[in-house]
Amino acid sequence: MNHDVNEKGQLLIGQVPAADLAEQYGTPLYVYDVGEIRQKARAFVQTFKENQVAAQVAYASKAFSSVAMLQVANQEGLSLDVVSEGELHTALEAGFPVEKIHMHGNNKSIRELEMAVEHEIGCIVVDNFYEIELLHSILKEQKKEMDVLLRVTPGIEAHTHDYILTGQEDSKFGFDLSSGQAEEAFMKVQDDANIRLVGLHCHIGSQIFETSGFEMATRKLFTTLNDWRDRYKYEATVLNLGGGFGIQYTEEDKPLDLDQYAHALIREVKNLSSQYDYPMPEIWIEPGRAIVGEAGTTIYTIGSLKEVPDVRTYVSVDGGMTDNIRPALYQAKYEAALVEKMDQKPEKEYSIAGKCCESGDMLIWDVALPAVEHGDRLAVFSTGAYGYAMANNYNRFQKAAVVFVEDGKHQLVVRRESYQEMTRLDLSYEK
Ligand code: LLP
Repeated sequence: MNHDVNEKGQLLIGQVPAADLAEQYGTPLYVYDVGEIRQKARAFVQTFKENQVAAQVAYASKAFSSVAMLQVANQEGLSLDVVSEGELHTALEAGFPVEKIHMHGNNKSIRELEMAVEHEIGCIVVDNFYEIELLHSILKEQKKEMDVLLRVTPGIEAHTHDYILTGQEDSKFGFDLSSGQAEEAFMKVQDDANIRLVGLHCHIGSQIFETSGFEMATRKLFTTLNDWRDRYKYEATVLNLGGGFGIQYTEEDKPLDLDQYAHALIREVKNLSSQYDYPMPEIWIEPGRAIVGEAGTTIYTIGSLKEVPDVRTYVSVDGGMTDNIRPALYQAKYEAALVEKMDQKPEKEYSIAGKCCESGDMLIWDVALPAVEHGDRLAVFSTGAYGYAMANNYNRFQKAAVVFVEDGKHQLVVRRESYQEMTRLDLSYEK
């Protein structure tokens, strides 16, 4: 992985030394290179534009939702995928255009649906039969109409490098295509005066490095749509193919350039549309990780070192599974560097430990670094997706702050949580 380094051997993020950011804002600190976020967003948006394909690139805000992030997403012309009242609330606070917000969720509450309808968001991705009933009565009561996509499970599941084809996919999300469930849902929403069915949605997985799974899923959805046109004279205008575009966490990861994913989808949809003589639908996608993952770096300060003779050296940092639960949860791999020793050769392998009271709180096993000393700052790369988003207060650690850097300027966009804020919901107990 390539990193910007100045003549003093310091890591630069958006032209600013990471060590200066750590000094000013404290650690652990999430730092985002906003230029890189914009560049990723543009790779998708421009590919569709250049090919003159109507599209919506909806940022999956679950990857990292904050007011500042959603403002950047909006500046880049992205739409937005939200999955909860909290994510919708954040979008509204950020002034995100409501008509470009899509709502997901396998168990949307009445309140979430009411809020979506009240604010007249762009689209609800309907997941199950119960939701159709709820939406039906909410729309009737509020005397409103809503664009809807049906989420279907095409029986293709991506496991990063390969795809599993399952006749009937065992998933908590969406309507099954093969058993006729999706068709039953189609009939229900077609009959509903307040629901405008605009098309189908699927999401086949995350951290996907090839285009073939997306192509397979596109064909499945298209065949279904073609069948429904023949039998019910229904024509969809939107095909939403979800997110899941892979990024580089370590040298082992070999993702495609983002425009390659978009090109593949465009090619496939165009081919199918001409093969079936079906009007070209809009292509919607929902990248989360691909927009923010590589743009984020977490900076820690190194504290204690423990040598287990002939085995390993543990290097403890001032964060861990509270700011990045992915290694503990998914055995996710990361790369790291000492931010002020970028010009020094690795001396040996170290294992990076978090500070939670839990043996599993290890951020990286066996990473080669220059000689580590107490007080060194460590950068862990590609932490921009599902890092802050899954941060927690285990051991009552504060949630870390987030800083945006762009063109040599930096700005705090999420304050570090205070201990007073952490206990603000606690009430004392009196017997
Ligand atoms: N659309 C839908 C319907 C999704 O369920 C997801 C992710 C996305 C889009 C965005 O996927 P992305 O482009 O970010 O891969 N916490 C896990 C990832 C869970 C993803 C859940 N759904 C992680 O840290 O890897």
